[in-house]
Amino acid sequence: MTTILDNHGRPITYLRLAVTDRCNLRCFYCMPEQGIRYLPKKDVLTFEEIQRLISLLASMGITKVRLTGGEPFVRNDLMKLIRGITKIQGIEELHLTTNGVLTGKHIPELKQLGLASVNLSLDTLDKQRFHAITRRDEFEPVMNTLNLLMEHQMPVKINAVVMDGKNIEDILPLVELTRLNKIDVRFIEEMPFNGEGNHYPTLHWTYKKILEYIKGHYPEIIKIPDPVSSTSSNYQIPGHMGNLGIIAAFSRTFCGTCNRIRVTAQGMLKTCLYDDGVLDIRQLLRADLKDDALKVKLLSAFQNRAKDGFEAEASRKNKIPVSESMSTIGG
Ligand code: GTP
Ligand code: 5AD
Ligand code: SF4
Repeated sequence: MTTILDNHGRPITYLRLAVTDRCNLRCFYCMPEQGIRYLPKKDVLTFEEIQRLISLLASMGITKVRLTGGEPFVRNDLMKLIRGITKIQGIEELHLTTNGVLTGKHIPELKQLGLASVNLSLDTLDKQRFHAITRRDEFEPVMNTLNLLMEHQMPVKINAVVMDGKNIEDILPLVELTRLNKIDVRFIEEMPFNGEGNHYPTLHWTYKKILEYIKGHYPEIIKIPDPVSSTSSNYQIPGHMGNLGIIAAFSRTFCGTCNRIRVTAQGMLKTCLYDDGVLDIRQLLRADLKDDALKVKLLSAFQNRAKDGFEAEASRKNKIPVSESMSTIGG
């Protein structure tokens, strides 16, 4: 298998695919509380379209797929899609990013199908703060999912977006989770993808500040090597079973090794999280384009990637700053 390199020499091996734009939580950093307009069903890629696309991308060198959303499990019969993807030749790793509300009962089958890992979005370990952040009362099922994931020895990363005034008091308890559990906890800089157009010129809790804060309480913390193309910069507290990571999602420090493309729920290709869509794949699939012709279009998009998230943001067709909801992009 030849790996495709983009116009900056970066291998493209990782597809993040949003299976729905719908979600059963309303995290304020991602969606407005009310008035969100979901896509009509007909505009969302079907399972057949998704499987055809993944097979094609696998033939072009994609080896890792992550399903995202919205919340993936809000899509009807998601397990059917997962079973299908695990059979696609060339896809070596299938991962899932989920909020955990509906995930618990599927864990035994996910394990049996060989799912490589689950990233669980969990910003707080406190029931009240969970409600304040997500605007829903679903703390227990999410914690239950976390426990089941650990029981089934599924590799888990907790994703916690760090938000001034909302969950700073959770940083240390989340760090403590790594003491006795073999799970990774990653702290994420908040990005302006909240569907409301709220934009901040500067970010208070930058990756540097998050690290300094943790160091202040755990001076023994050590840097550990980062996997290739990792979004997180990784650390360990000696004696702890799990690792810590910090994702500079807003500062965008890792663009130089970016190996990922995104497909939104409506089938729009994004070659950077910060671009506003570079190829309408759904339209091409529905226009009955043959695989070879579709490949040519995809290759051309891979050859025109922005060098980093700042360039991608600056070249958005629609010049207003990034403000769409993360639920339509898939994170
Ligand atoms: P691993 O495959 O486990 O490394 O996970 P991941 O970091 O690729 O995926 P995940 O869905 O867990 O995303 C964690 C956070 O990183 C989210 O807030 C994502 O939006 C952010 N993130 C993931 N990929 C990118 C990226 O390419 N650019 C930026 N700026 N942020 C990203
Ligand atoms: N900033 C940073 N991360 C975000 N996520 C969702 N919205 C934002 C945002 N505005 C994260 C979720 C999830 C991942 C896919 O994206 O926490 O874990
Ligand atoms: Fe890749 Fe864009 Fe993310 Fe940078 S901001 S890592 S280029 S997707």
